[in-house]
Amino acid sequence: MSPNHVMEEPALLDAMGTVTGLRVLDLGCGDAAIGRTLLNAGCSSYLGLDGSAAMVEAAGETLQGTSGRAEQVDMEDFAAPPSSFDLIVSRLALHYVEDFAAVLMACHACLSPGGRIVFSVVHPVLSSYDAGTREPRTNWIVDDYFLKGPRQRSWLGGSVTWFHRTVEDYVDALVNAGFALSALRECAPREERFDGDLAELARRRRVPLFLLLSGTRI
Ligand SMILES: C[S@@+](CC[C@H](N)C(=O)[O-])C[C@H]1O[C@@H](n2cnc3c(N)ncnc32)[C@H](O)[C@@H]1O
Repeated sequence: MSPNHVMEEPALLDAMGTVTGLRVLDLGCGDAAIGRTLLNAGCSSYLGLDGSAAMVEAAGETLQGTSGRAEQVDMEDFAAPPSSFDLIVSRLALHYVEDFAAVLMACHACLSPGGRIVFSVVHPVLSSYDAGTREPRTNWIVDDYFLKGPRQRSWLGGSVTWFHRTVEDYVDALVNAGFALSALRECAPREERFDGDLAELARRRRVPLFLLLSGTRI
């Protein structure tokens, strides 16, 4: 049972609220599954950006037959004219970015007045330290929490770099970029999504996996 499905996605959908008529930008869109969902929910446009050519291709397939688009862009180089978007979403991608403050500034610059950003990242208690345990995990270690910066992680047979930041760092960066904090969620598991698997629900209640923040452009 994917933790994204039982923990992150419901918190994200709640935080986004009604999307009817909104122009949506998705940073680190992956296969753009959320793009299809948002277009079905009535957003007026969807643009997904991802640094990986393979992901942009997958996103193109997901968005086939819709008005949604995906482009290969490194989000650290991203910029768009003022008032280009009403909602910026980013799922589990911003912990790959070193200069998070600069990305938030670029987001602020291209949102309409009152526009919103909603993003999820790997929870800082997880990005702090990699115990290297195999799934399913039965214990978790938090260490070097206040030591910000890169962390190497094994991922799908390769190695990726996450940039660890504390919860406080995420909130400060959002506020310093000119957003009012509208929600901070730790994505507690939703019992209704577990199909009665109470053992898995109990396991997912042990440790936060995701941090979600939402900000409104001031
Ligand atoms: C864990 S995946 C999440 C994908 C998608 N948002 C989802 O929830 O299914 C992280 C995505 O961020 C993309 N990514 C990482 N760093 C990036 C960067 N600097 N610019 C653009 N995309 C990036 C990766 O290629 C990957 O598709």
